[in-house]
Amino acid sequence: MNDNDKIELDMNNIPKHIAFIMDGNGRWAKKRFMPRTYGHNEGTKTIRKIALEANRLGVKAMTVYAFSTENFARPDDEVQFIFKLPKTFFNLYLKELIENNVKISLIGHLEKAPQATQDIVNEAIEKTKNNTGLNLCFAFIYGSRDEIVCSAKKIAQSVKDGVIDIDDINEDYFQSTLMSSHLPDIDLMIRTSGEQRLSNFMLWQLAYAEFIFTPVYWPDFDEHELHKAIWSYQNRDRRYGGLK
Ligand code: FPP
Repeated sequence: MNDNDKIELDMNNIPKHIAFIMDGNGRWAKKRFMPRTYGHNEGTKTIRKIALEANRLGVKAMTVYAFSTENFARPDDEVQFIFKLPKTFFNLYLKELIENNVKISLIGHLEKAPQATQDIVNEAIEKTKNNTGLNLCFAFIYGSRDEIVCSAKKIAQSVKDGVIDIDDINEDYFQSTLMSSHLPDIDLMIRTSGEQRLSNFMLWQLAYAEFIFTPVYWPDFDEHELHKAIWSYQNRDRRYGGLK
């Protein structure tokens, strides 16, 4: 497919859950001789743009990797800047997201964020809890191994307390204990900026996902790039280990 080709999407085969590793904000800013934080700010505009388009296409869930447990290793001023982004984002866009029936959710350790960040995110979750459109989930202070360990601990406690028996533990039960249990399995995972790694992102949920790695930096990712990725997904042969 050429970049300028008109993309005809099969509206009966839209991925239910698309997950994004939003990468390249820093490099995008550096190319413009701007601080890395400028790139993160621009990245929030992309979240709005892509969420509205995914919602319009009928995607049920979209998860964005906004801050990993490993991101605490970044310089403190960058970490503090990212912790202020939810305020910027929801002040600018919550009204519009509500008008579009978008629901906000979160996976990760919000309790480790400053109180003001917790309050603004909780308010957005509360205000959108009855919405039935796209579920826009922020993976925030999130790490997949940590999520799995948290589940293992919860399950161990339930066995210890006699609430469940070891034989009750199966894949469905395990999934129901994950922070992300409210989300369907991921169908399509897109990582921007040319990196080809998972970086501790939703390892359980990506078991059968199709992966797309694009060189485009997250601030430059747009509706056309989303359509290209969905088109590519629709033209893959998903067999889930079986034969066709
Ligand atoms: C990676 O780019 C991107 C991040 C660490 C995510 C930053 C967060 C957002 C764009 C949005 C957060 C928004 C809300 C509402 C919580 P990078 O810095 O790793 O880029 P680089 O690889 O080019 O340095």
